[in-house]
Amino acid sequence: MKITKGNILDDVLNEMNSDEFLNEYWPNHFLHNKGSIERFFSVPGIENISSLENILKIYKNPVMVVGDAIIEETGGILNKFLVPPEEAMSWYEKGAALEFDFTDIFIPELRESISKLKSLLGLPEGTMAKAVLYAAKESAGFSAHFDAYCNFIFQLKGKKKWKLAENFNTINPLQHYELIEAPHLPDPLKSYWNGEFPDENLSNGTELILDAGSFLFLPRGCWHSTSSSEETIALNFTFGQPAWLDLILIELRNRLIQKDEWRELVNIDLLDENERKKVEEKLKSMINNLPNDFKGISVGDILARKKDDLDVYQSTQLVVRQLMSIKDGF
Ligand SMILES: [Fe+2]
Repeated sequence: MKITKGNILDDVLNEMNSDEFLNEYWPNHFLHNKGSIERFFSVPGIENISSLENILKIYKNPVMVVGDAIIEETGGILNKFLVPPEEAMSWYEKGAALEFDFTDIFIPELRESISKLKSLLGLPEGTMAKAVLYAAKESAGFSAHFDAYCNFIFQLKGKKKWKLAENFNTINPLQHYELIEAPHLPDPLKSYWNGEFPDENLSNGTELILDAGSFLFLPRGCWHSTSSSEETIALNFTFGQPAWLDLILIELRNRLIQKDEWRELVNIDLLDENERKKVEEKLKSMINNLPNDFKGISVGDILARKKDDLDVYQSTQLVVRQLMSIKDGF
């Protein structure tokens, strides 16, 4: 019988309770908590993950294969691609790391656990949440990057070395970034980027060794890289980090969508100069009217948007993944 102390965090954290975590670490400070792996099995769904072979039987979706083996295969063009689950093991043997995105589609108990953790963390209802399982062999890992999501990581097998470093370049990043792309920065990130890039080894950072039974909370934006010298399996619970910006943009769109002129086709490039001028004048008056359109937006209006879908990209990914798994049912 499973012994539970209360909520998921109370069950998983060793010698710490959920209040301490929520007050001192969430949402900005990483936490590495070691203990017996047994405590993870109090989280419904985790006991279904016993081995890589077992996961490959359950997971009826393409598997992402990642790492040097893929770079070699594609002549340096790609570092990851999707393969059918039956081919995943041969890529694993060649040294690729395997990423099982949306594992919770195939283990519904996990979805339930993630949803409980989401409300425990006080995240808006419309926040993206999913489980991702990683399996890797010797030396396979991820180079330095940061994510726009936060992760709760359960190390289920093997030893993995993590390097973490505080992100002095961006506060509250809204997108993922790979250090290997430096000095190139995508435009939105460039607009709020500060200072020099860290070195690729994150040598000013902290080194952590996760082994079976290690739990890691990785906040959004924290620089990190991983490597392993043995076979590892880790389960991640990943949560989007909706910003006020997301809520206000939904509200603004919802207001403008009611106006016929804002739904008009962008039809300007084929017009002659005279017609083009007319369209520009009309657009100018629409812009000038924005303060009226947005008048009276209240805090309540914005907070009501917490229930909206706050990550359309991931929701689409989920639907695609679900559709891909349906075919195996026929
Ligand atoms: Fe990451």
